Parts: sequence; C-alpha cells; structure tokens
Amino acid sequence: MKTQLENIYNSAKKDIENANSVSDIDEIKLKYLSRKGEFNAIKKGLKDLSDEDKRVVGALANQITQDLENLLKEKYDVFYQKELNEKLQHEKIDITLSGKFIPEGRIHPLTETTNEIVTIFQSLGFSVVAPELSPEVETEYYNFDMLNVPKDHPARDVQDTFYVQDSEGVVLRSQTSGAQIHVMENQKPPIKVISPGRVYRNENINARKNNFFHQIEGLYVDKGITFGDLKGVLNEFTRLYFGSARPTRFRSSFFPFTEPSAEVDVQCIMCQGKGCRTCSGTGWLEVLGCGMVHANVLKGVGIDPDVYSGFAFGMGIERLAMLKYAIDDIRLFFNNDKRFLEQF
Ligand code: DAH
Repeated sequence: MKTQLENIYNSAKKDIENANSVSDIDEIKLKYLSRKGEFNAIKKGLKDLSDEDKRVVGALANQITQDLENLLKEKYDVFYQKELNEKLQHEKIDITLSGKFIPEGRIHPLTETTNEIVTIFQSLGFSVVAPELSPEVETEYYNFDMLNVPKDHPARDVQDTFYVQDSEGVVLRSQTSGAQIHVMENQKPPIKVISPGRVYRNENINARKNNFFHQIEGLYVDKGITFGDLKGVLNEFTRLYFGSARPTRFRSSFFPFTEPSAEVDVQCIMCQGKGCRTCSGTGWLEVLGCGMVHANVLKGVGIDPDVYSGFAFGMGIERLAMLKYAIDDIRLFFNNDKRFLEQF
C-alpha cells in the first residue's frame, strides 16, 4: 500500500511538472485529490489494515496529500498570474471611442398641459378628484340623466355617444361632467374640485376633431357662491394660463346642467384680436364652457339649492394646448411621431 501511494505521488508530481496552465492544474486536482480521485480510492482500503499499519500508512497518505496540495497551489498561483497578465495586455479598453447615445424621454405635451392647468387650479384652492369618482366607462345616468340632460337630447344619439354593446345604459363618457355627480354623491359642501380625464365622441376624425380627447371639469359648491366668483376664478385661470395681458369675454350660452350658462373667449393669441384664420376673423377664441350649477342637478344629489349654490366649468385640454403652442392638427397628439413630440 505504501508503494502504491508512492507511485501515485510520483505520477502526480510528474503531471504537475508537465502542467502549463490553470486548467491543467484544475484537471490534476480532480484526478488525484477529489472525492473520486486516486488517493481517496486508496484511503478507502485503510480500514482493512492493522492498527499499527493504519497509523503509519495513514500518516504517509496525509503527508503526500498535503505535499501535493502545496505543489498545486504554488503552480496554480504562477499560472494564474501569467494568464492574467496576458489577458490584461491583450484586452485594452479604447477610451477614445464615443459612447452609446441613449435618448432621453420627455413628458407628452398633453400631460404637460394637464399638469399646468391642474397646478393653476390647485393654486386657487381646488383639489383633484379621486380617479374612481371619474370613470371613463360610465352609465347614461351619470353622463346624462343626473346632469339634467333630457332623454331626447341630440348628444345622447349614437351618432355622438359611444354606447357599450350589450350593456343597457352604459356609455364611454362623452364629457367629464359626470364626475360632478359622483363627487356630490360622496361629499358634502363645501366642494371645490377639478377632474381631468379622457372623453369619447363618435366624430369624423379631422384636423380639429378626434373620437377621443381630454377635458378638465371644475366644480365649486358652497353657501353664497355667485356668478361673480365664477368670473373671478376663470379670469384668473386664463390670466395664468395665457399670460397677463389677455382680455376675456363671457358670452351667454346654454348647457342643460347650468343656469345661467356661459362660454369664455380669450382674445386671439395669433392676431391679438385683429382677426385671422385661427379665430375665423372674430378676434376671439372660445376656450371653455361654464355656468351656475342647475337647481335640478343639486336637488338630484340631495343638496338644497335654497341653501347652497355653485358654479361648474369644463374645458378641452387639446384645444388649450393647441392654442398655446400653435398646433394646427389635433391628430398630432396621438400619432406618436417623435419629430412632433421632441419639440416639447
Ligand atoms: N361638458 C361640457 C362639454 O363637454 C363642458 C361644460 C360646460 C362643463 C359647462 C361644465 C359646464 O361643467 O358648467 O361641452
């Protein structure tokens, strides 16, 4: 058994002398010293020896294993260093190469406009309605009935409103005004909120109309709210959004859910009121609808119109962005053309 051990030791030493690389050393380790290696095979025979022999041969086996381990480690370090140096010499990093261009993303112009308008109203004391009180898939009840829109109103026609197939009375909302009802059902006055969101209409798509677009709804209900408050808030809004020197006018109008109703025009930002193509020669641009909340609407949600009053307003976000940035085609917002988006 001693001779067997010595033979293996000698052949292992020869292998180590002939080794040339880290991977050679790893192979030798595996061949002789691993669990399935040659030394282990011999060590298994130790149990059949006398106690005396066990001690002597055992000691020799340990000695030889230790020797081999030292030799292997020594060679391994040499080869490892050598291979590392070679690698470092050949693998050079060219720091003069130009880097990879990683384009930066940016905020979509509609998101930016929405944020800007929301920030203005927040500065005037309005808070943003929770999204669950402003759903895009809505019932006729919220989109029309509770807003005092008569059953035979043309806006309810399938030519204007998208009805959800096989769901009686379910629509894609045609206006954000339904959020007013959800809020008043969930909160007692004072209520001072805005609600931005997407609306849908069955339109023929062209440069000025898309079959979905975005609105911001506003609602202020408290004791003693007057048309004067409405004018004050909306004048302040147009001043902050379009810049200080822009005149506005409140034009009498009609919406089923407000009485009286008005539309707000700002002096044309293209021609400063002289009359041009953008304002169809009138010198004015219509920017929003508004009015005092109709008594029927307040009654519907259990708010006493003899105690409380309020005003509401709604505006198209695309329209406001198009006016401010002189964008002449609403479809540009939705085409994802980087040449357009990169300008913002
Ligand atoms: N919902 C109206 C529309 O889509 C806009 C509007 C007008 C909203 C008057 C209001 C309002 O809250 O008071 O054309």
